[in-house]
Amino acid sequence: MSERLEDIAIAMVADGKGLLAADESSGTIQKRFETIGLASTEESRRDYREMLFRSEDAMKTCISGVILYDETIRQSAADGTKLTEIIKQVGSIPGIKVDAGAKPLAGFPGETITEGLDGLRERLAEYYALGARFAKWRGVISISDGLPSWGAVKQNAQALARYAALCQEAGIVPIVEPEVLMDGKPGTHSIDRCYEVTEWVLKTVFAELYDARIVLEGMILKPNMVIDGKNARKASVEEVAEKTVRCLKSTVPAAVPGIAFLSGGQSDEEATAHLSAMNASFDMPWKLTFSYGRALQAAALKAWGGKPENVAAGQRAFAHRARMNSLAATGGWKQ
Ligand code: 13P
Repeated sequence: MSERLEDIAIAMVADGKGLLAADESSGTIQKRFETIGLASTEESRRDYREMLFRSEDAMKTCISGVILYDETIRQSAADGTKLTEIIKQVGSIPGIKVDAGAKPLAGFPGETITEGLDGLRERLAEYYALGARFAKWRGVISISDGLPSWGAVKQNAQALARYAALCQEAGIVPIVEPEVLMDGKPGTHSIDRCYEVTEWVLKTVFAELYDARIVLEGMILKPNMVIDGKNARKASVEEVAEKTVRCLKSTVPAAVPGIAFLSGGQSDEEATAHLSAMNASFDMPWKLTFSYGRALQAAALKAWGGKPENVAAGQRAFAHRARMNSLAATGGWKQ
């Protein structure tokens, strides 16, 4: 495969394909495993991810790339094959989460800043050697009364831009992920408030990317959809699709090759329906696809339940969601 940033970015959003976010930190995967009563160990984490990556057919046809966690990019399958090799063998691209998580932002109660810039140049060089050709950094913006603040929006956008510049220097495509949370506290904000904040955040992020001399053709944006707070009323699929596309068109330059959404706590089917409605109903200058974590994995995790005899059932569940989202990526999913 070509090593040009532009070509990697285009491959990440190839027709009918999207990204599998399998980069849960050790703390997050532990929470996921608790839901099936499984202890999180190096081996159980490996077994789970090996099950997903060995879903050969679904990986080949639906998954352009996999976002890995630091532990996973170094791990080998039970038979000794590197997990990154299994991903490459099916024509998918290994990627890596490089941020160190969202921490309280000093001076801004209730808001966070994503850490991980120190030493990032060296870590990116190592990840490149381990096979990563794209990376992910997530900035988190929470909506509540009077928040987010300009200071938090600006500082998270600056961190995203500095991360993106270091990635491009290293020959790695940055996934720029400014997530406006659905759940926040109390999570009762309206879809229109989400629109307003998402627009503000994306305008700020692209201004910072410009100042940092980011090559837009060699990046992927990973945003939230424009959607009601988790504890508010539910807008229709059509309203979410229309408002999300309108917000993105007013903020994301056409030079960006692709936008891959996070699922952010939507149900599996909602995440698929929203993506499909956008692709079916609107002409857009960029590809619109998925980079789902929970919405691709929840059913597979449940079907697997941590039992070796359920690996095939887990893979079937994963393949089903992958296929539905692949259809949605071209607007062809029907309920
Ligand atoms: P969800 O799709 O579960 O939101 O995860 C995607 C992701 O990578 C968040 O950073």
